[in-house]
Amino acid sequence: MASANPFIYGEIVPDDSFADREVELDRLTADLRAGQKIFLISPRRYGKSSLVRRALSTLARQGALTVDLTVSSYSSYVSFLEGYARALATVETKWQRAREWLGDVITTTRPELRYEADAASGRLAVAFPLVRTERDVTRLANEIFALPGRLSTERKRPVIVSLDEFQAIDAFNGGSVEHALRAAAQQQRQVGYVFAGSEPSLMEKMIGPKRPFYKAGPVMRLEKIPADIFADFIENRFGRTGIRAEPGLGAAIVDLAGNLPYDVQRLAHETWDDIRAAGMKKAGLDQLHATLGRLLAEQDTMFEAVWQRLTLAQRAVLRAVVLQSGRELLSAETRNRHRLGGPSSIQASLSALMKQDLLLKEGPQYVVIDSLLREWIARKTF
Ligand SMILES: Nc1ncnc2c1ncn2[C@@H]1O[C@H](COP(=O)(O)OP(=O)(O)O)[C@@H](O)[C@H]1O
Ligand SMILES: [Mg+2]
Repeated sequence: MASANPFIYGEIVPDDSFADREVELDRLTADLRAGQKIFLISPRRYGKSSLVRRALSTLARQGALTVDLTVSSYSSYVSFLEGYARALATVETKWQRAREWLGDVITTTRPELRYEADAASGRLAVAFPLVRTERDVTRLANEIFALPGRLSTERKRPVIVSLDEFQAIDAFNGGSVEHALRAAAQQQRQVGYVFAGSEPSLMEKMIGPKRPFYKAGPVMRLEKIPADIFADFIENRFGRTGIRAEPGLGAAIVDLAGNLPYDVQRLAHETWDDIRAAGMKKAGLDQLHATLGRLLAEQDTMFEAVWQRLTLAQRAVLRAVVLQSGRELLSAETRNRHRLGGPSSIQASLSALMKQDLLLKEGPQYVVIDSLLREWIARKTF
């Protein structure tokens, strides 16, 4: 039987495609088990959700009840509360029991509980139609935020709550949600929380002085996976699926992908597909470059549109970032070589490019987030 592609991108990675993160995983699991409130911060696509999922499944195997919610997928504060209540009520229990429990524990309003049979296994839908004013919402929120503690006491098991894309909580009604959640979490010794966020600047503000989550618990800043470990991992997965990787292939993939976990897996996945489709048993740099060429061609129209939307000054700065590997952008030499304007106009372009999610600052260095776009700029623009 032909084996499946061992590289996964764009979703939470299954155990089999999960590389490294051993130290992070141990620490996250231990802290959650100890009932800590952890902040997990990194730019998008570094692997936060995958890491959290793995920690939760380890903890669940050890007997914890786990609840996993993505805050950014809710369109309002009330719908977030509905989702949260549903997740807490249905954690490892039959819907009938969940229904009764919710009816009992929510006292400030009457929940509307429906069983949706159409979903694969059936699920409980929770709504709070009577909640209208801001005061109603606040009272309800206080009640719901207390539920993890209550659940843990009643079921006599540790509870772990993961609120992913947590920075989105800011949009609901900012300060008061943070306050209520922090106050509730603080009283729940037996409940571990992980608040993962993809917008480092927003998340850093949220844990700064004067904000409710200041010093609420440990902060983990997720870094990239060490390049050599990731490279070995890739060559090994090629090998396991019957394709021999030429030495250096893993390192080349990691390098071309800017070592962003998502981009590394994407490039490896696509290269593997092309090699398998060609019926080859060996993977080398030639195949890697052929695949890269195909991906760039496929994205050409989209990158063209991105490029067209930029001002001339932004285009010049973006090209300079690519050609200079993101360094020394303000030096006189760089400015001359790439015919850039003065430092303040370069700064303005850099800020605009970061705001559009095209660039990211890593220490002193600017990085084009999408490694394919970086290659496209290097090859197709002048
Ligand atoms: N530990 C890992 N090993 C291998 N690939 C990973 C790992 N973590 C993340 N990735 C890759 O990055 C992609 C994005 O990961 P994800 O967990 O969704 O990141 P985030 O939540 O930080 O945005 C995954 O789909 C996968 O391709
Ligand atoms: Mg995520």
